[in-house]
Amino acid sequence: MKTIFIASAELVKEAKVYFKGEVVVRWVKDKFIAHQRFCPHQNADLNAALVSDDLRLQCPMHPIKFCMESGKSNVQKWAIKVYETLVENNQLFIKINDNETIVV
Ligand code: FES
Repeated sequence: MKTIFIASAELVKEAKVYFKGEVVVRWVKDKFIAHQRFCPHQNADLNAALVSDDLRLQCPMHPIKFCMESGKSNVQKWAIKVYETLVENNQLFIKINDNETIVV
């Protein structure tokens, strides 16, 4: 597992941050949440998704909801990648697998 620096934790609390345009990192309900930006169904931008109180993202294009913590959806075959976050000295990181890359 490797960690990737995203931004200062304070910055992410104030505004959503993108990593390489592919990962959205945001502060929701007193938690840092990092998830893939584009919907696996037809590539809608999940940055524009509605966020419910139970930490679900409603895709802006179709009625699929993704859990922001597990990535699972209400449609079994669709899921999004979510990333574990880590804060050290007010610096926010996400964790990714050693063999994983996030490309532009
Ligand atoms: S594009 Fe997201 S559910 Fe269809």
